[in-house]
Amino acid sequence: MNVLLLGSGGREHALAWKMAQSPLLDKLYIAPGNAGTATVGTNLPISATSFDEIKEAVKKYDINLVVVGPEDPLVKGVHDFFLADSELKNIPVIGPQKYAATLEGSKEFAKNFMIRHNIPTAKHFTVTAENLAEGFAFLDTQVAPYVLKADGLAAGKGVLIINDLQEAKTELQNMLQGKFGDASKTVVIEECLKGIEMSVFVLTDGESYVLLPEAKDYKRIGEHDTGLNTGGMGAVSPVPFADKALMTRVEEEIIKPTVAGLKKDNIPYCGFIFFGLMNDNGTPKVIEYNVRMGDPETEVVIPRIKSDLLKLFVAAANKTLSKETIEIDEQSATTVMAVSGGYPEAYEKGKVITIDSEISDSIVFHAGTTLDGQEVKTSGGRVLTVTSLGKDKNAALELSYKNIKKIQFDKMYYRRDIGVDLG
Ligand code: AMP
Ligand code: GLY
Repeated sequence: MNVLLLGSGGREHALAWKMAQSPLLDKLYIAPGNAGTATVGTNLPISATSFDEIKEAVKKYDINLVVVGPEDPLVKGVHDFFLADSELKNIPVIGPQKYAATLEGSKEFAKNFMIRHNIPTAKHFTVTAENLAEGFAFLDTQVAPYVLKADGLAAGKGVLIINDLQEAKTELQNMLQGKFGDASKTVVIEECLKGIEMSVFVLTDGESYVLLPEAKDYKRIGEHDTGLNTGGMGAVSPVPFADKALMTRVEEEIIKPTVAGLKKDNIPYCGFIFFGLMNDNGTPKVIEYNVRMGDPETEVVIPRIKSDLLKLFVAAANKTLSKETIEIDEQSATTVMAVSGGYPEAYEKGKVITIDSEISDSIVFHAGTTLDGQEVKTSGGRVLTVTSLGKDKNAALELSYKNIKKIQFDKMYYRRDIGVDLG
C-alpha cells in the first residue's frame, strides 16, 4: 500500500522510519517532511494544512492511507475534508475529525469532557470578558501557584503558572485582552496539581485501543528543569515510576473512561490519544489531552514497538484493533534533542550540519532540517534528536550522549541531564 504522512518534525521522522520497515508498505510519501524523512520515503513540497494540494497528491500517488502527525491539520479538519470529498472519502485517515480534535484545540471542551465522564483532573473555572469578577473570586479560593491556560491552541505557550495572586489577576486580564491572540479570549483557571508528569499514548479506533509505551519528556530549555518551556528537549521510555499499579489505575480510571466517553458522546475517533498526566503519589490525573503523538516522546516510544505499526494503522482504520496485540521491546529508549542556539526564543537557521563518523548504535531523527543540494541544513529550533536503546536508561543515555558529540552545527545546544532525575 502507498501511505502519505503529514508533518515535518522528529515525530514524523520516527513514524516514517517505522512504517518504512513494514512489509505492507509499497511507497511512503511525506508532506512536507525533512532531510531525515527523505532517507526513508519521498518528500512532497506540500504544507500539512494545504488540503487541496494534499488531495492532488493523494490522487497522483495513488495513496491508500493517510497518517497525520501534528495537531494543526486535525484541528483544521483534514479528516473531515477527506470524508466530505467523493474522491477521498474511502481513503482512511489516521487522526481524529475536527470535533474530536477539540479535545486538544479547546481546554474548556476537554475539561467538560473529563467532568462528564468522571475522569480525574484539576478543578477549573472558565473565564471570559463577561465573568471576569467571578474569575477573580475563583482565584481568591485557590492557593498559589495559580495556573492560567489559554483555551485555544497557542503553540505550547498558552499556560502561565504564577506565584503571586495579584500578578495572576493582572495576567488573567492580559490574556483575555489577547496576550495569546484569540486563543486566550477564553481562559481556563486550574487548580495546580502536584507530582511528576508523564505521557501515556494509545492508538484507538473508537471502540478499542492498544496501549503504547509511556514516556517522560523534558520541556525546559535549561538543565535541572530551568528556563523557558520548549517543545521538548529529550525523552525517556519506560518511565521507572510508571509501575504496574500506576499503569493499571491509568488504564482503569483514565484511558478506558476516555475511549468509552467518546463512544457515549457519539464522537468517532481513529488515531492517537496522548494523555498528559500528573502522578500525585500513585494517583494519576489528566493535565491535558492531545490528539496526536508527542514530540520528542514519539522518538522513544516508536523504537520500542516491535509490532508492525502500519498493520496497527490498518486495523484502526478497519475498526478491528480489538483483534491486535502490540509487542513492546523491554529495553529502555532515550533521546537527546539538539537545538539551535537561542531557541525557544529567536535563533538562526540555515546552519550546515556535519556528522563526524557513521552513527550505527543510535538513530538520528531529524526535526528541523532541510536538504540544500547535498548539504543538510538547520531549518528549525529543534534540529535533530539522538535516540538509543539499551538494557536500562543509563546504558541508552550513554549511547545518545556518545553519538550526539559526533554531530555539529553552529551554536548547537543540548541538555546534558536528560533522564538524570529518574535515578
Ligand atoms: P498544558 O499545555 O496543559 O500541557 O500545560 C503545559 C504545562 O504546564 C504542563 O506540561 C505542566 O507542566 C503545566 N501544567 C498545566 N496544567 C497544570 C496544573 N493544573 N497543575 C500543575 N501544572 C500544570
Ligand atoms: N512533548 C510534548 C508535546 O508533544 O506536546
